[in-house]
Parts: sequence; C-alpha cells; structure tokens
Amino acid sequence: MEPTKLIYDSPKKMAEAYSVHILNIVNKTLKSHNFVNIALSGGSTPTLIFDMLAEKYHDLIPWENLNFFWGDERCVPPDNDQSNYHSANMHLFEKLQGKKTNIFRIMGESGITREMFRYSGLLKNTLKQKNGYPAFDLIMLGMGDDGHTASIFPKDIDLIESEELVAHTTHPENGQDRITLTGNVLNNAENVAFHVTGAKKASKVAEILDHKGSHAQYPAAGINPKNGRLFWFLDKEAASEL
Ligand code: 6PG
Repeated sequence: MEPTKLIYDSPKKMAEAYSVHILNIVNKTLKSHNFVNIALSGGSTPTLIFDMLAEKYHDLIPWENLNFFWGDERCVPPDNDQSNYHSANMHLFEKLQGKKTNIFRIMGESGITREMFRYSGLLKNTLKQKNGYPAFDLIMLGMGDDGHTASIFPKDIDLIESEELVAHTTHPENGQDRITLTGNVLNNAENVAFHVTGAKKASKVAEILDHKGSHAQYPAAGINPKNGRLFWFLDKEAASEL
C-alpha cells in the first residue's frame, strides 16, 4: 500500500497533526483492546510531539491505558542526555502531572546481549503476535540524513529482513552502540508513522517516496507495513523535492 504523505508549513504544525494522529489511533485501538502498545522514536524531532502531547492533549489521553516501548535506544544509562528514554521522560512523562502510564524502556545500561534477549522476550509476552512477530499498535519513526530509521543504518540494511526481533548496531560515525527493533517488527505494526522535518532530509525523502535513485539502500525505504498503515508526516522543507 502506498504511504499517506502529509505536508505541513512548519515542524510545529507537523507535530500538532502527528499528536492528533496518535490520539485517533489510541481512541480507535481502545474500542477493542484494553491497552495501546506504542513504540517511541528517538532523536530530536519527536520531542516536539512529546511536548505537544503532554501540554496540549494531556487531558484527552487515557495515559493509564498506554504502554510505551522504544523502537531503538542508545546503549547509555537512562539519565544520559543521549538516551531516547531520557528525552521522552523530560518532554513527556515528567509532564503527566502524576498521571500513571506504563513504560517498558530498553535498558541501554545493561549488557547488550542480555538486554536484547530480555527486550525480545518482553515484546513476545506483552504484544499481540501477528505473522509470527509482535505487533505494535503504533510505531513512531524518524529518518536520519543518511536514510536510517530506528537504529538500522544503511550498513545494517539486512536487518530489514532479519528474523530476529531486536538487533545490536553501531552508529556509523561515532560508533555508539545501539539496540534496535528489526524490519520484520517495524513492518508488522498496525500503524507506522514517520515524522521528518528539515531541508537536509528533502533529497532522501524524495528518493524514497518517489522510488528514485538508490532509495533501496536506505532502511527507511524498507518500511512498508505488511498489513498496517504507513504515514509520512513532513514539514514543507523536508517535502520540498517531492
Ligand atoms: C535515534 C532515532 C533515529 C532518529 C533519526 C532522526 O535513536 O536517533 O531512532 O532513527 O529518528 O536519527 O533524528 P532527528 O529527529 O534528530 O533528525
């Protein structure tokens, strides 16, 4: 299925629309399930969305019915500025004014092999299984300037088809250890939504969404949910070469 491309005048307007998208998925999922299983993305772009959810949509979201996981994590302690959990905690969880929610972070401070085993088991035991893989209700994804998504970098492109649920990768520039969901989990979600802003990403966005050039080498191009819905939330700068 072709992705739904949504383009907004600014990152803030994109974040607003993305927050409403999350709210809609939450409300729809809770019509037939007690919990909504969401995998959060990392990096800087989602902080706009986290702030929006906590500040503008706080009272509309049944936080106690949400289970928060991560699509990837840096192998650092949870209070480290590099931690994706730390970012979500600062921009979202700490603003919930005492409301309880359910957090299942990747323990970046643990031994990598042991944490991969633990997190894989958690996904198998907590999420509904579809096509032999855990199925999230929503996976949030960003895209790096090199076309990576989650922590699947171009050098790790084979992880898009890996039969494992979770993998260990390293950042191609600084060598930072990462733990990431693999493509078969990412592509097994009911809903996958990219949030991409900024002119620096415009050429990769166009290559991927218009199936041009060497798009097949970019992990973000490998995200096509088997049965789920795929959205690309873009600001006009990131969409400027479409
Ligand atoms: C991470 C993210 C990564 C991120 C992209 C875009 O852990 O860094 O999972 O995939 O989404 O690198 O990051 P920005 O939003 O900061 O551009």
